[in-house]
Amino acid sequence: MQILIVGNGGREHALLWKLRADAPGAAFHATRPNGGMAPLCTGVDISPTDVVALAGWAAAKRIDLVVVGPETPLAAGLADRLRKAGIPVFGPSAAAARIESSKAFAKDLMAGAGVPTAEYEVHTDRARARAFIESLGAPVVVKASGLAAGKGAVVCGTVAEAARTADAMLAGSFGEAGSRVVIEEFMEGEELSVFCLAHGEDFVTLLASQDHKRIGEGDTGPNTGGMGAYAPVGLVTEELMAEVGERVVAPVLRALAETGCPFSGLLYAGLMITDRGPRVVEFNCRFGDPETQAVLPLFSSSLLEPMMAVAEGSGLGGHTPVFADAAAVTTVLAADGYPGSYAKGAPISIPAPAGRVHVFHAGTATKSGRLVVTGGRVLAVTAVDADFDAARSASRAAAASIEFEGRQYRGDIGWREAARRARAPRRSETHTQHRPGGMRT
Ligand code: AMP
Ligand code: GLY
Repeated sequence: MQILIVGNGGREHALLWKLRADAPGAAFHATRPNGGMAPLCTGVDISPTDVVALAGWAAAKRIDLVVVGPETPLAAGLADRLRKAGIPVFGPSAAAARIESSKAFAKDLMAGAGVPTAEYEVHTDRARARAFIESLGAPVVVKASGLAAGKGAVVCGTVAEAARTADAMLAGSFGEAGSRVVIEEFMEGEELSVFCLAHGEDFVTLLASQDHKRIGEGDTGPNTGGMGAYAPVGLVTEELMAEVGERVVAPVLRALAETGCPFSGLLYAGLMITDRGPRVVEFNCRFGDPETQAVLPLFSSSLLEPMMAVAEGSGLGGHTPVFADAAAVTTVLAADGYPGSYAKGAPISIPAPAGRVHVFHAGTATKSGRLVVTGGRVLAVTAVDADFDAARSASRAAAASIEFEGRQYRGDIGWREAARRARAPRRSETHTQHRPGGMRT
C-alpha cells in the first residue's frame, strides 16, 4: 500500500505518525516533508497547490490513498483532480471546501440551514460596513472572507477600531482574501474544536479539543494559526456533543449535499460554547493544527480504516473511533517574530523526549546535517498522561528543554481546563465524551 500525505506542517507530521502506526507495512510519501517527517517517508518535490502535477504524480505512482492536510490545495481542486483520476483521496471537493475558503459562503449556508452562529453581514463597501459595525456596537469581529492562514479575524474592542480594520481589509491589507469583509457579532464563551469524519450525510465525531489562538499567555495579542491545544475538554458532555451533532454538523452536511456539493473528508466545527448553547465561529474543511497533534496521540483505534472507507466513497461503514482515557497537552514552539515576519535558519536542539512525549515538527528542515528553523510554527510537543495536570507540566517541560534562538511558546496551554479542575475537580474527571460512536447518523 502506498500513501501520499499532502502538506508538511505539524498536523501532517502527526497524521504521518498515526497512519504509519496503523499501517506499518505501507510506503509513505509526503510533499516537501519537514525535518521530522523526512526520515519517515520519501519526499515529493511538488507544491501542494500544483494540483495538476500532483495528481499526475499520484496517478503515475498508483498511490492507494492521498490524505490532504491543508486547506489551500483543497480549495484549489486537488481532491477533484485525484477523484477524476480514480485515486482515493481523503479531502473534500473545491466546491465543498468553500465551507472554509469562503466565510461568506459558510455564513449563508448556515443561515439557510438554521445553524446557530453569530449575526453577520458581508460587505464590500466601506460606508456600509461602518454602518453595520455601528449597529452591532463593540466588541465586534471583522474578518477577511477568503483564506488568511488563521490570521484574518480581528476581534475589535471599539467601533472605531472595527471601522479602521474593515477599511484596511477592503483597501487590500489581506490581498484578495479581504476584498469582502464579514462583520460579526462578538460571541462570549469558551471555544471548542470538533472534528468529524464525514461522507455525505454520514459522520462520526472525534474527541473534542481546545485550541489557543492568541500569541500571548492569558490569550492576549494577535491571532496565530494556533499556539497549543489539549484534549479532552472538561466542559464537554454527551448532551453537548449530541446537540453539536444535531444542530450543527448534521444540518450543514445536509445543506452541502442538497446544494450539490456533498462533503467527504474531515469537517472541523470551530464552536463557541455560549450561555445559549454551541454556536459556530467557523468551519474548516481539514484537520486543525495544532489540535490534531493533541487528538491523534489519544486515538487508539485505526484512523486509516475509516479514512480509507471515506476516500473510497463507501461511507463510514460502521467505524467507531476509540480514544484512550487519558489527556494530551500540546505546546507549540514558534520562531522569533511570529505571527509577524520571523527569522529563519536558527539551529534547533531537541533533547531526547522523556516519558510519553511526542515531538511533531512543523517549520523545520535538515540542512548540512543540522536541524534548522524554516517556518513560523516550528515544533509542537505533545505530552500524554492519565492525569491532565501531569500532561500539562510534561508538555511545558518538554517545550522548555528545546532550544533555538528567539523561540517563543506559551507556558499556559490548558489554563482554562486547569482552572475548571481547580473549581470542580470531580466533575472534570468524567470523560463522558469518550464515546463518540453515539454521534453516528
Ligand atoms: P476565525 O478566523 O473565524 O477562525 O476566527 C479566529 C478566532 O477569532 C476564533 O478562533 C475566535 O477566537 C475569534 N472569533 C472569531 N469570530 C468570533 C466571534 N464572532 N465572536 C468571538 N470571537 C470570535
Ligand atoms: N487551529 C486552528 C486551525 O487549524 O484552523
